[in-house]
Amino acid sequence: MTLIEKIIRTEGHLIDSGLLRRVFDTVISDGGRFEVLDFTIGRNNDEFSRARIKINADDVVDMNTILLKLSTLGCVIDKEEEITLVPAPADGVVPPDFYSTTNHETFIQLHGTTIKVDKLRMDGVIVVGRDDVGLVTASVRKLRDVRKGDSIVVGLSGVKVKPEYVERSRSDFRFMSAEVSTERKVRLAVDRVAELINDRNKKVVTVAGPVVVHTGGAPDLARLIENGYIQALLAGNAVAVHDIEADLYGTSLGLDLQTGRPVEMGHRNHLRAINEVRRAGSIAALVDEGLLTSGIMFSAIRTGIPFSLAGSLRDDGPLPETVTDMNQAQDDHSRILEGADIVLMLSSMLHSIAVGNMLPANVLTICVDINPSAVAKLKDRGSLQTIGIVTDVGLFLQLLASKLLDHPSVPI
Ligand SMILES: NC(=O)c1ccc[n+]([C@@H]2O[C@H](COP(=O)([O-])OP(=O)(O)OC[C@H]3O[C@@H](n4cnc5c(N)ncnc54)[C@H](O)[C@@H]3O)[C@@H](O)[C@H]2O)c1
Repeated sequence: MTLIEKIIRTEGHLIDSGLLRRVFDTVISDGGRFEVLDFTIGRNNDEFSRARIKINADDVVDMNTILLKLSTLGCVIDKEEEITLVPAPADGVVPPDFYSTTNHETFIQLHGTTIKVDKLRMDGVIVVGRDDVGLVTASVRKLRDVRKGDSIVVGLSGVKVKPEYVERSRSDFRFMSAEVSTERKVRLAVDRVAELINDRNKKVVTVAGPVVVHTGGAPDLARLIENGYIQALLAGNAVAVHDIEADLYGTSLGLDLQTGRPVEMGHRNHLRAINEVRRAGSIAALVDEGLLTSGIMFSAIRTGIPFSLAGSLRDDGPLPETVTDMNQAQDDHSRILEGADIVLMLSSMLHSIAVGNMLPANVLTICVDINPSAVAKLKDRGSLQTIGIVTDVGLFLQLLASKLLDHPSVPI
């Protein structure tokens, strides 16, 4: 049996971020062995630690699996290698050994220089080209947007990934993702979120599920939009439908929002809401007619923040604004997310995971869900930068709006 050997390098907050342990675990769990050749520890808060590690595996396949996983942890092969480029064989098709991107900051090595990869997102490929003045560019593209002849990065050589290191300032959130939060912890978390989104230089995008409306959180989310704390809204057809139903008929999925009791013939109300919007021509037209006077969609339209409503198989209607071409909906979401600093994900597991995939890792995501496994699932999909707050979303929005708008100086 041939023993394969590679030497890799890594640097960063290797100890307190747990990165070094993850590197070792990865090598061992994929059947490899490691030997630390050099290790320099960062001597203060800012200084990085650096390590050179020898990896052994029994065959090429094992070694490639290990190296692929280690590259997502920021490890690079010791000697400076260059990338390999292969032309795309057809529109929407890439060479079989294409490099698949992560959401972490990525660099490629070409002609002796290091080039930063832009338009970062997970599950894309790297296309290398030239800009208008002839400089080499590298950007992430979705498979379907690749054109025949595009230069695609293949294999792992020359690609360097810089993972997000767990920041010390985020440590107070860590406990919340693992367990059901007590009321006290929720209040602390709301306080911290209020601090984060109070920074008017930050672009805050929210992803909302219909539970926001069912739990009575819509008026508070609308207040946050009206007061400029939310700069864009991503949702599905259902959120808009139930939000409009709540304003027009006082129900959400046929339940009275004040009493929580079913209203006679209330099950028709969401269809009546859809019908009203379709009659008017659009949600904006219903606002213009003076018939839609409150709620999330009303505030989004009145303030002019961009929104995107993505369709789904379960949709009734849909509303005229709902985009049922899924490629178009993905592109609309991505465009709205450009430049986002914080994404507030409110009780919509599938939608949040989809949005998480579109984001670079340096975007802070705050996921509010009553089920701890929803937060865990987001992290498992690679959105490690997620802060989880396990609580009822209606309560969360009420506390957040109250903290920011009614009692800004009072600790919660
Ligand atoms: N739910 C609907 O009525 C409906 C109807 C048509 C289409 N859709 C579409 O399907 C997709 C996913 O739908 P979804 O977001 O409803 O389902 P989802 O399963 O993706 O997410 C719902 C999440 O809300 C959480 N949750 C439940 N109660 C909560 C509470 N009180 N506080 C905080 N979190 C709570 C759940 O744990 C779950 O993670 C969306 O695109 C949506 O537009 C939904």
